[in-house]
Amino acid sequence: MNIRQYARLSIAPMMDWTDRHCRYLHRLLSRHALLYTEMVTAPALVRGHALHLLDHSPEEHPVALQLGGSDPEELAQAAKLGAEASYDEINLNVGCPSDRVQSGTFGAVLMKDPGLVAECCAAMIAAQSVEVTVKCRIGVDDQEPERVLPDFLERVSAAGVSRFAIHARKAWLDGLSPRENRDIPPLDHDLVLRMKSQFPALHISVNGGIASLDQAERFLDAGLDGVMVGRSAYQRPADILCAADRRIFGAKTLDSTPEEAVRAMLPYIEAHLVAGGRLNQITRHMLGLFAGRPGARAWRRMLSEGAVQPGAGPELVEAALVQVAGVMMPAS
Ligand SMILES: Cc1cc2nc3c(=O)[nH]c(=O)nc-3n(C[C@H](O)[C@H](O)[C@H](O)COP(=O)(O)O)c2cc1C
Repeated sequence: MNIRQYARLSIAPMMDWTDRHCRYLHRLLSRHALLYTEMVTAPALVRGHALHLLDHSPEEHPVALQLGGSDPEELAQAAKLGAEASYDEINLNVGCPSDRVQSGTFGAVLMKDPGLVAECCAAMIAAQSVEVTVKCRIGVDDQEPERVLPDFLERVSAAGVSRFAIHARKAWLDGLSPRENRDIPPLDHDLVLRMKSQFPALHISVNGGIASLDQAERFLDAGLDGVMVGRSAYQRPADILCAADRRIFGAKTLDSTPEEAVRAMLPYIEAHLVAGGRLNQITRHMLGLFAGRPGARAWRRMLSEGAVQPGAGPELVEAALVQVAGVMMPAS
């Protein structure tokens, strides 16, 4: 499979959530879903030389690096660093509404300047050979999505981008917090579907409010090329990822299980602790693994309370798993 096929289902970039430990876990649940990093800013890489932000495990592939920035030259250099670090895709963030990001003139505010986005993408494409993609909104503030979104796609695709993930709601840059901007502006999935009809040659993924594989399949059946899932995949990873290889990618494999994933995390956890890391840095991403299943609350509590204790190690995770398994399969 190539990266466009992997993009049939992707897990959205989420700051502080989709770090390397989270992606390692998600990869254990699905071999095929495309995983995105948290946003890494071009200034941090290029001016701050914070190359550790690119660290990831070889097991994570296919994995896309999301960049934030608005200076074409700086983004070009950052994209080159991402390609050298062996990422499978370089994605530009044109959707994030946070204040900090706005002050640096990047993220969603760039929806107002498609010419600059096109220039940034052209520079990133010219600088290296990994595919450059864009994640955007349908508009910002008082823009009319029906008018600005096709114009945005037209101009940015003319610069050489042929794959987009569209968060199907506006960002209101004035007055809403980043969190509110992920819930309050109404979703318009139909507009994203219309963009696919209007630009059939583009690979378009829909993002925003997708909470199940059933829903994801409906979007794919309706003609979209991909579905990008954010919060649901983080909060209920098993529901989104365990059956994804079979249902979304047609793989002839057995579905993964959260229990297997927990067992496969143990050596990874051990190595992290030996390298000086803390248990909670990994287990915080595992809290939702059994969401909706018997034992989920005790699992969450054991991990969240136990993992911050001094000296906590993989045995805590094993004990929590035994406890969940005991609830799920009571002895006969
Ligand atoms: C905690 C958190 C952090 C996020 N950070 C980013 C980010 O770094 N870059 C980005 O493009 N979007 C970011 N987003 C937005 C998501 O990628 C996604 O577009 C949004 O959550 C809508 O999808 P969902 O309804 O499936 O969650 C973030 C969302 C959350 C919840």
